[in-house]
Amino acid sequence: LTTKDLAGEHILITAGPTREELDPVRFISNHSSGKMGYAIAKAARRRGAAVTLVTGPTCLTEPCGVATIQVTSAEEMRQAVMAAFPASTIIIKAAAVADYRPVARAVAKIKKTAGSLSLELEKNPDILFELGKIKADKILIGFAAETGDLLDNAAKKLTVKNVDMIVANDIGAEGAGFNVDTNIVKLLFKDGRVEDVPLMGKQELADVLLDRAVKLKGR
Ligand code: C5P
Repeated sequence: LTTKDLAGEHILITAGPTREELDPVRFISNHSSGKMGYAIAKAARRRGAAVTLVTGPTCLTEPCGVATIQVTSAEEMRQAVMAAFPASTIIIKAAAVADYRPVARAVAKIKKTAGSLSLELEKNPDILFELGKIKADKILIGFAAETGDLLDNAAKKLTVKNVDMIVANDIGAEGAGFNVDTNIVKLLFKDGRVEDVPLMGKQELADVLLDRAVKLKGR
């Protein structure tokens, strides 16, 4: 695709995992590589959008021409997203945000003792849910990574988080999910429509997702 069909749009994309620190040396996180979100950022830029990428820690190179904001924790991601939200017209939340964080971060390294150790965790803010409440006419796209009941779980997220499209990802399937270059997804829309997208590269899938975003915008 060489058309600049996203010219005039401001696309805010989140990518990668978040890290929730326990102490100066340890954190809770997940296997997200950031590949899907970065692929969307690159494609959106190529198609003429102004792009802001809010990313957790990844091994990927910052895409050229994309305003990239590096964050670590879910709370930092929330702050960066809220700051960029007002200027954006399309928001795509591909980040795997940690749902919980330690209640307290120890100032010194937690020392080993003879017994077991329990961690107390508290809920992180659900950024997508917060955006769903204030979205107005912006297009909001979320992801759902599931290991079971994919369609049910994704449909719930579509409604509860008030988004326009959910990209449902069966991370148990071969060639899908974290840290691979391909993905197999289903797209769920507000009118109940479900679209099966075949196995394809994340860069190719990025263009499919942006095609749907363009349609949702009525462009
Ligand atoms: O509820 P679940 O974490 O499965 O929802 C996934 C979607 O919600 C993704 O789009 C993710 O970026 C977003 N999310 C978020 N803040 C959280 C948890 C998830 O924005 N704390």
